[in-house]
Amino acid sequence: MSRSITVQDLQAKKDKGERIAALTAYDYTSAEIVDAAGIPLILVGDSLGMVVLGHETTIPVTLEEMMHHTRAAVRGARSALVVADLPFLTYQLSPEQALENAGAMMARTGCKAVKLEGGADMVGTVQRLVSTGIPVLAHLGYTPQSANRFGRNRVRGRDFETGLSLVRDALALEAAGAFGIVLELVPRQLAGEISRRLRVPTIGIGSGAECDGEIQVFHDVFGLYRDFCPRHTKRFADAAGHIDDGIRQYIDEVGRREFPSIGQSTNMDADVLVKIRAYLEQDIPRQDINRPTSAFSAR
Ligand code: KIV
Repeated sequence: MSRSITVQDLQAKKDKGERIAALTAYDYTSAEIVDAAGIPLILVGDSLGMVVLGHETTIPVTLEEMMHHTRAAVRGARSALVVADLPFLTYQLSPEQALENAGAMMARTGCKAVKLEGGADMVGTVQRLVSTGIPVLAHLGYTPQSANRFGRNRVRGRDFETGLSLVRDALALEAAGAFGIVLELVPRQLAGEISRRLRVPTIGIGSGAECDGEIQVFHDVFGLYRDFCPRHTKRFADAAGHIDDGIRQYIDEVGRREFPSIGQSTNMDADVLVKIRAYLEQDIPRQDINRPTSAFSAR
Protein backbone atom coordinates (compact mmCIF):
# COMPACT_ATOMS: atom_id res chain seq x y z
CA MET A 1 0.00 0.00 0.00
CA SER A 2 1.51 3.35 -0.99
CA ARG A 3 1.85 6.17 1.53
CA SER A 4 -0.61 9.07 1.28
CA ILE A 5 0.76 12.35 -0.02
CA THR A 6 0.76 15.23 2.45
CA VAL A 7 0.90 19.00 2.13
CA GLN A 8 4.53 18.73 3.23
CA ASP A 9 5.25 16.48 0.24
CA LEU A 10 3.83 19.17 -2.06
CA GLN A 11 6.03 21.77 -0.38
CA ALA A 12 9.05 19.46 -0.85
CA LYS A 13 8.23 19.29 -4.56
CA LYS A 14 8.37 23.07 -4.84
CA ASP A 15 11.58 23.16 -2.81
CA LYS A 16 13.16 20.64 -5.22
CA GLY A 17 11.86 22.51 -8.27
CA GLU A 18 9.51 19.63 -9.26
CA ARG A 19 6.26 20.80 -10.82
CA ILE A 20 2.98 19.57 -9.35
CA ALA A 21 0.46 18.14 -11.85
CA ALA A 22 -3.00 18.22 -10.26
CA LEU A 23 -6.41 17.21 -11.61
CA THR A 24 -10.00 17.35 -10.48
CA ALA A 25 -12.00 14.16 -9.88
CA TYR A 26 -15.52 13.87 -8.58
CA ASP A 27 -16.17 10.18 -8.04
CA TYR A 28 -14.59 6.84 -7.08
CA THR A 29 -13.75 5.69 -10.63
CA SER A 30 -12.13 8.89 -11.89
CA ALA A 31 -10.23 9.41 -8.62
CA GLU A 32 -8.93 5.85 -8.83
CA ILE A 33 -7.70 6.40 -12.41
CA VAL A 34 -6.11 9.76 -11.62
CA ASP A 35 -4.47 8.44 -8.45
CA ALA A 36 -3.14 5.28 -10.09
CA ALA A 37 -1.54 7.36 -12.84
CA GLY A 38 0.51 9.21 -10.21
CA ILE A 39 -1.24 12.56 -9.73
CA PRO A 40 -0.31 13.80 -6.23
CA LEU A 41 -3.18 16.27 -5.70
CA ILE A 42 -6.83 15.59 -6.52
CA LEU A 43 -9.27 18.46 -6.18
CA VAL A 44 -12.95 17.70 -5.78
CA GLY A 45 -13.77 21.06 -7.30
CA ASP A 46 -17.12 22.79 -7.22
CA SER A 47 -16.66 22.80 -11.02
CA LEU A 48 -18.67 19.58 -10.61
CA GLY A 49 -21.62 21.98 -10.64
CA MET A 50 -21.07 22.37 -14.38
CA VAL A 51 -19.37 19.21 -15.59
CA VAL A 52 -21.27 16.68 -13.46
CA LEU A 53 -24.52 18.38 -12.43
CA GLY A 54 -25.13 20.49 -15.53
CA HIS A 55 -25.46 23.93 -13.87
CA GLU A 56 -24.16 27.03 -15.65
CA THR A 57 -21.93 28.11 -12.76
CA THR A 58 -20.54 26.76 -9.49
CA ILE A 59 -22.90 28.94 -7.46
CA PRO A 60 -25.79 26.47 -6.93
CA VAL A 61 -23.50 23.71 -5.59
CA THR A 62 -24.30 22.76 -1.98
CA LEU A 63 -22.14 21.50 0.86
CA GLU A 64 -24.07 18.21 0.84
CA GLU A 65 -23.34 17.71 -2.87
CA MET A 66 -19.65 18.45 -2.32
CA MET A 67 -19.54 15.98 0.56
CA HIS A 68 -21.28 13.27 -1.46
CA HIS A 69 -18.74 13.54 -4.31
CA THR A 70 -15.76 14.01 -2.00
CA ARG A 71 -16.56 10.82 -0.08
CA ALA A 72 -16.61 8.88 -3.36
CA ALA A 73 -13.34 10.43 -4.61
CA VAL A 74 -11.61 9.76 -1.27
CA ARG A 75 -12.49 6.05 -1.63
CA GLY A 76 -10.81 6.01 -5.05
CA ALA A 77 -7.64 7.90 -4.10
CA ARG A 78 -5.17 5.58 -2.43
CA SER A 79 -2.21 7.93 -2.41
CA ALA A 80 -3.12 11.41 -3.70
CA LEU A 81 -3.92 14.27 -1.35
CA VAL A 82 -7.65 14.93 -1.77
CA VAL A 83 -8.70 18.57 -1.40
CA ALA A 84 -12.40 19.52 -1.36
CA ASP A 85 -13.82 22.85 -2.44
CA LEU A 86 -15.97 24.71 0.04
CA PRO A 87 -18.92 25.87 -2.07
CA PHE A 88 -20.48 29.33 -2.33
CA LEU A 89 -21.71 30.85 0.94
CA THR A 90 -20.48 28.01 3.13
CA TYR A 91 -17.45 29.96 4.41
CA GLN A 92 -17.81 33.64 3.48
CA LEU A 93 -20.15 34.65 6.34
CA SER A 94 -17.61 34.30 9.17
CA PRO A 95 -14.51 32.32 10.20
CA GLU A 96 -16.81 30.35 12.55
CA GLN A 97 -19.12 29.37 9.69
CA ALA A 98 -16.06 28.33 7.67
CA LEU A 99 -14.71 26.29 10.58
CA GLU A 100 -18.00 24.48 11.11
CA ASN A 101 -18.39 23.58 7.42
CA ALA A 102 -14.72 22.80 6.72
CA GLY A 103 -14.64 20.65 9.87
CA ALA A 104 -17.73 18.75 8.73
CA MET A 105 -16.21 18.32 5.27
CA MET A 106 -13.02 16.81 6.73
CA ALA A 107 -14.73 14.65 9.35
CA ARG A 108 -17.51 13.33 7.12
CA THR A 109 -15.59 12.74 3.88
CA GLY A 110 -12.01 11.89 4.79
CA CYS A 111 -10.53 14.63 2.58
CA LYS A 112 -7.23 16.01 3.82
CA ALA A 113 -7.66 19.74 3.03
CA VAL A 114 -10.17 22.30 1.79
CA LYS A 115 -9.99 25.01 -0.85
CA LEU A 116 -11.66 28.39 -0.63
CA GLU A 117 -11.76 31.44 -2.90
CA GLY A 118 -10.75 34.96 -1.93
CA GLY A 119 -7.85 37.26 -1.06
CA ALA A 120 -7.06 39.47 1.93
CA ASP A 121 -10.71 39.23 3.02
CA MET A 122 -10.13 35.52 3.71
CA VAL A 123 -7.02 35.94 5.88
CA GLY A 124 -8.89 35.64 9.20
CA THR A 125 -10.76 32.58 7.94
CA VAL A 126 -7.60 30.86 6.72
CA GLN A 127 -5.91 31.54 10.07
CA ARG A 128 -8.90 30.11 11.96
CA LEU A 129 -8.98 26.91 9.87
CA VAL A 130 -5.23 26.35 9.84
CA SER A 131 -4.90 26.93 13.59
CA THR A 132 -7.62 24.31 14.10
CA GLY A 133 -5.69 21.79 12.01
CA ILE A 134 -7.42 22.16 8.65
CA PRO A 135 -4.99 22.64 5.75
CA VAL A 136 -6.20 25.31 3.32
CA LEU A 137 -5.53 25.72 -0.38
CA ALA A 138 -6.37 29.31 -1.34
CA HIS A 139 -7.70 30.41 -4.75
CA LEU A 140 -6.94 33.78 -6.33
CA GLY A 141 -7.37 35.49 -9.69
CA TYR A 142 -10.55 34.47 -11.45
CA THR A 143 -12.65 32.98 -8.68
CA PRO A 144 -15.67 31.23 -10.26
CA GLN A 145 -17.95 31.77 -7.25
CA SER A 146 -17.75 35.50 -8.13
CA ALA A 147 -18.51 34.88 -11.82
CA ASN A 148 -21.45 37.30 -11.70
CA ARG A 149 -19.20 40.09 -10.45
CA PHE A 150 -16.50 39.54 -13.10
CA GLY A 151 -18.73 39.07 -16.14
CA ARG A 152 -16.96 38.22 -19.38
CA ASN A 153 -13.68 39.90 -18.41
CA ARG A 154 -12.22 36.83 -16.72
CA VAL A 155 -8.45 37.43 -16.69
CA ARG A 156 -7.45 39.09 -13.39
CA GLY A 157 -4.39 41.23 -12.66
CA ARG A 158 -3.63 42.81 -16.03
CA ASP A 159 -3.39 46.39 -14.73
CA PHE A 160 -1.12 47.85 -12.04
CA GLU A 161 -3.76 48.03 -9.28
CA THR A 162 -5.29 44.58 -9.65
CA GLY A 163 -1.89 43.02 -10.42
CA LEU A 164 -0.35 44.43 -7.25
CA SER A 165 -3.36 43.53 -5.16
CA LEU A 166 -3.04 39.90 -6.32
CA VAL A 167 0.60 39.85 -5.17
CA ARG A 168 -0.44 41.32 -1.81
CA ASP A 169 -3.31 38.85 -1.45
CA ALA A 170 -1.00 35.92 -2.20
CA LEU A 171 1.55 37.04 0.39
CA ALA A 172 -1.20 37.61 2.98
CA LEU A 173 -2.72 34.17 2.38
CA GLU A 174 0.68 32.51 2.69
CA ALA A 175 1.31 34.39 5.95
CA ALA A 176 -2.12 33.25 7.17
CA GLY A 177 -1.02 29.64 6.70
CA ALA A 178 -2.39 28.52 3.30
CA PHE A 179 -0.32 25.54 2.10
CA GLY A 180 -0.70 26.55 -1.54
CA ILE A 181 -2.49 28.99 -3.80
CA VAL A 182 -4.43 28.28 -6.98
CA LEU A 183 -3.90 31.10 -9.49
CA GLU A 184 -6.68 31.09 -12.06
CA LEU A 185 -6.51 33.21 -15.23
CA VAL A 186 -3.67 35.44 -14.08
CA PRO A 187 -1.22 36.74 -16.75
CA ARG A 188 1.71 34.30 -16.84
CA GLN A 189 4.38 36.90 -16.03
CA LEU A 190 2.50 38.01 -12.92
CA ALA A 191 1.87 34.37 -11.92
CA GLY A 192 5.65 33.85 -12.24
CA GLU A 193 6.35 36.87 -9.98
CA ILE A 194 3.94 35.58 -7.37
CA SER A 195 5.32 32.03 -7.58
CA ARG A 196 8.90 33.22 -7.06
CA ARG A 197 7.93 35.43 -4.12
CA LEU A 198 5.98 32.77 -2.28
CA ARG A 199 7.48 29.93 -0.26
CA VAL A 200 4.37 27.75 -0.74
CA PRO A 201 3.51 26.31 -4.16
CA THR A 202 1.25 28.07 -6.65
CA ILE A 203 -0.99 25.86 -8.76
CA GLY A 204 -1.95 27.55 -12.00
CA ILE A 205 -4.96 27.17 -14.25
CA GLY A 206 -4.76 29.38 -17.30
CA SER A 207 -1.82 31.19 -15.67
CA GLY A 208 1.18 29.84 -17.56
CA ALA A 209 4.08 27.51 -16.88
CA GLU A 210 5.87 29.69 -14.31
CA CYS A 211 3.51 28.48 -11.58
CA ASP A 212 4.82 25.68 -9.37
CA GLY A 213 2.10 23.35 -10.62
CA GLU A 214 -0.94 23.11 -12.82
CA ILE A 215 -4.52 22.02 -12.21
CA GLN A 216 -7.07 21.17 -14.87
CA VAL A 217 -10.64 19.93 -14.88
CA PHE A 218 -10.79 16.18 -15.68
CA HIS A 219 -13.77 16.55 -18.01
CA ASP A 220 -12.04 19.37 -19.96
CA VAL A 221 -8.67 17.71 -20.55
CA PHE A 222 -10.10 14.33 -21.46
CA GLY A 223 -12.82 15.71 -23.71
CA LEU A 224 -15.83 14.65 -21.66
CA TYR A 225 -17.49 18.06 -21.27
CA ARG A 226 -18.70 19.29 -24.64
CA ASP A 227 -20.69 22.43 -23.70
CA PHE A 228 -17.62 24.67 -23.47
CA CYS A 229 -13.85 24.26 -23.80
CA PRO A 230 -11.88 27.00 -21.99
CA ARG A 231 -8.95 28.49 -23.94
CA HIS A 232 -6.54 27.46 -21.18
CA THR A 233 -7.41 23.79 -21.64
CA LYS A 234 -5.79 21.23 -23.90
CA ARG A 235 -7.51 18.01 -24.88
CA PHE A 236 -5.16 15.21 -23.85
CA ALA A 237 -7.70 12.55 -24.80
CA ASP A 238 -11.04 12.35 -26.57
CA ALA A 239 -12.88 10.21 -24.05
CA ALA A 240 -16.33 11.32 -25.24
CA GLY A 241 -15.33 10.40 -28.81
CA HIS A 242 -14.22 6.92 -27.69
CA ILE A 243 -17.39 6.47 -25.64
CA ASP A 244 -19.50 7.62 -28.59
CA ASP A 245 -17.81 5.02 -30.86
CA GLY A 246 -18.38 2.41 -28.17
CA ILE A 247 -22.07 3.28 -27.83
CA ARG A 248 -22.65 2.97 -31.58
CA GLN A 249 -20.96 -0.43 -31.65
CA TYR A 250 -22.97 -1.52 -28.59
CA ILE A 251 -26.29 -0.52 -30.23
CA ASP A 252 -25.26 -2.38 -33.38
CA GLU A 253 -24.17 -5.58 -31.60
CA VAL A 254 -27.24 -5.66 -29.33
CA GLY A 255 -29.45 -5.17 -32.41
CA ARG A 256 -27.74 -8.04 -34.30
CA ARG A 257 -27.74 -10.32 -31.19
CA GLU A 258 -23.96 -10.46 -31.42
CA PHE A 259 -23.77 -9.19 -27.84
CA PRO A 260 -24.11 -10.79 -25.34
CA SER A 261 -22.36 -13.86 -26.73
CA ILE A 262 -22.35 -17.33 -25.13
CA GLY A 263 -19.19 -16.37 -23.26
CA GLN A 264 -20.96 -13.43 -21.63
CA SER A 265 -23.93 -15.49 -20.40
CA THR A 266 -24.53 -18.55 -18.21
CA ASN A 267 -25.28 -22.12 -19.25
CA MET A 268 -27.88 -24.32 -17.55
CA ASP A 269 -28.19 -28.05 -17.06
CA ALA A 270 -30.08 -29.58 -20.02
CA ASP A 271 -32.13 -31.91 -17.78
CA VAL A 272 -33.41 -29.01 -15.70
CA LEU A 273 -34.38 -27.16 -18.85
CA VAL A 274 -36.32 -30.18 -20.14
CA LYS A 275 -38.18 -30.36 -16.82
CA ILE A 276 -39.05 -26.67 -16.80
CA ARG A 277 -40.33 -26.85 -20.39
CA ALA A 278 -42.44 -29.92 -19.63
CA TYR A 279 -43.89 -28.20 -16.57
CA LEU A 280 -44.77 -25.08 -18.54
CA GLU A 281 -46.27 -27.05 -21.41
CA GLN A 282 -49.06 -28.30 -19.12
CA ASP A 283 -51.09 -25.20 -20.05
CA ILE A 284 -51.31 -24.05 -16.45
CA PRO A 285 -53.59 -21.00 -16.16
CA ARG A 286 -51.52 -17.86 -15.49
CA GLN A 287 -53.12 -17.27 -12.08
CA ASP A 288 -52.00 -20.76 -10.96
CA ILE A 289 -48.36 -20.54 -12.03
CA ASN A 290 -47.23 -19.82 -8.44
CA ARG A 291 -48.98 -22.85 -6.93
CA PRO A 292 -46.66 -25.57 -5.59
CA THR A 293 -45.21 -27.65 -8.43
CA SER A 294 -46.42 -30.81 -6.63
CA ALA A 295 -49.99 -29.75 -7.60
CA PHE A 296 -49.10 -30.51 -11.23
CA SER A 297 -47.47 -33.58 -12.70
CA ALA A 298 -44.80 -32.98 -15.29
CA ARG A 299 -45.31 -35.38 -18.18
O1 KIV B 1 -13.65 23.91 -9.04
C1 KIV B 1 -12.58 23.67 -9.62
O2 KIV B 1 -12.45 22.68 -10.34
C2 KIV B 1 -11.48 24.59 -9.41
C3 KIV B 1 -10.22 24.38 -10.20
C4 KIV B 1 -10.40 24.39 -11.62
C5 KIV B 1 -9.11 25.21 -9.73
O3 KIV B 1 -11.58 25.45 -8.60
